[in-house]
Order: sequence, then C-alpha cells, then structure tokens
Amino acid sequence: MDNTEVIYEGKAKKIYPSTKPAFWIQEFKDDATAFNGKKKGQISNKGEINNKISSRLFQYLDSHQVPTHFVKRTAPNAMEIKKLQMFKLEVIVRNIAAGSYLKRENVEEGTVLNPPILEYCLKDDDLGDPFISETEIFDQELATDDQLDKIRRNTLKVNVLLKDFFSRRNLKLVDFKLEWGLDAKKDVVLGDEISPDTCRFWDATTNEKLDKDRFRQNMGGVENAYEEVLKRVF
Ligand code: TMP
Ligand code: ASP
Repeated sequence: MDNTEVIYEGKAKKIYPSTKPAFWIQEFKDDATAFNGKKKGQISNKGEINNKISSRLFQYLDSHQVPTHFVKRTAPNAMEIKKLQMFKLEVIVRNIAAGSYLKRENVEEGTVLNPPILEYCLKDDDLGDPFISETEIFDQELATDDQLDKIRRNTLKVNVLLKDFFSRRNLKLVDFKLEWGLDAKKDVVLGDEISPDTCRFWDATTNEKLDKDRFRQNMGGVENAYEEVLKRVF
C-alpha cells in the first residue's frame, strides 16, 4: 500500500484509511521487536500469518458475543477493521508463570496461576509500558469505572474462550495481551491483534514454546513456530 496514506504506524502494524468512512485497514508487518524496541528483526511471513491467526480468533470471539473490531480480511497481510478510539492500556492475562512475571515473583516458569492474573499496563513506549493500578487508571481518566468493568469482564471471558479453543488444538495459552477501544456507539470493543506476537503458546504435550519468545530469547525456529500455530488454529 501507499505509505503516504498511513494514519498510524506501530512496531508490528500500520493503519490505513479504508474506502468506507467507518472502517480502517490494519496491515501486519514482518518486522519484529522486543524489549521495548531495543531488539529488532524480521520474521519472514509473520505479517500474513498473524493476520490469518488474528482474523480467525476475532471471528471466533465475535461468534461468542465478544465484540471485536474485525470486519474482514482484505489481503494476505491486511484486514478491514472498525474504527476504534483505543484506551491507552495493555491488558495482560497470565494462566501460567512465564516472561516478566518470573522477574517479579519467586515462582518457577510453568507454575499454574489459578485464578489467572489480570494486569494493566499504561501504553506508553517512552515510559516502557509500566504497570498501572485501577485507581491510577481512574485518576488519569484513562477509562471510567463502567468501561474498566467491561474491559475486565470481557478480558476474562476471552481467556475462558481462548483457553478452550487452544486446548482443543493441543496448545497451552500461557499468557496474552489485549487492547480495547470504544466504537462510534461508545461500546467497549476488542482491537489490535491476537497472535504469537501477543500471546505465549506452549505445546500441551512437550511444552515447546511456539511464540515470539523464540525471537526474544534467540531460540531459533521462529518461523516454524508461527507456521505451526497457524496450522493448528485452522
Ligand atoms: P510479559 O511476560 O513480557 O510481561 O508479557 C506478557 C504477555 O504480553 C505475553 O504474552 C506477551 C505480551 N506482550 C505484548 O503483546 N506486548 C508487549 O509489549 C509485551 C511486553 C508483552
Ligand atoms: N513488542 C514489544 C516491543 O518491542 C515487546 C515484546 O513483545 O516483547 O517492544
């Protein structure tokens, strides 16, 4: 697509106008970053794979009464989405201890977290997406009480639905990050993406890592892991 038209460019995606005023086009890049952009690289075919995985998961959630921004896939690496006004929040759910959780808690990787842990981070690259509490969210007027309640309840519903979806595909949903926004009617709607960039998936039999941790930790086999998740999702 023509770069001059870009509305927004993030580390892994670009947003373009759509021909329809209520929609945008979300394009997935092959670029990969980690540690707040300090590590940079490319994962070949990632844009297409993440677009396909996200499309499938958004359709699955929509069919289970979780509203998402997904409209339709428009290209191998792009989807049409509803325009949302995004909350400046990253909402993380942890079912199994991994990643940054291990740096703050004295638990072993793989420990089951029951009930699952829900965390909020402020979406701010300059600050390194720090933790933010519910009261800080209200103080900074990042969301109202009612909006945060919907975000919390819908995020936990997504967790139940996706855990089941992936367990039927012999994958453990270790943890994931969601981003929510408001549509034209001010309803809380799921935006962004759901992919091996934003989730941790482990093979349920072998615990093999099948997500971006392979890139973060220089484990090799990154492309194969993304392909494997795509294969299992469809
Ligand atoms: P963390 O263990 O590094 O905090 O990550 C928790 C989950 O959130 C993991 O599934 C990866 C995802 N995530 C993102 O999608 N974007 C980010 O910038 C970070 C730090 C994590
Ligand atoms: N996407 C994030 C970044 O570069 C971090 C991550 O996924 O680990 O900054």
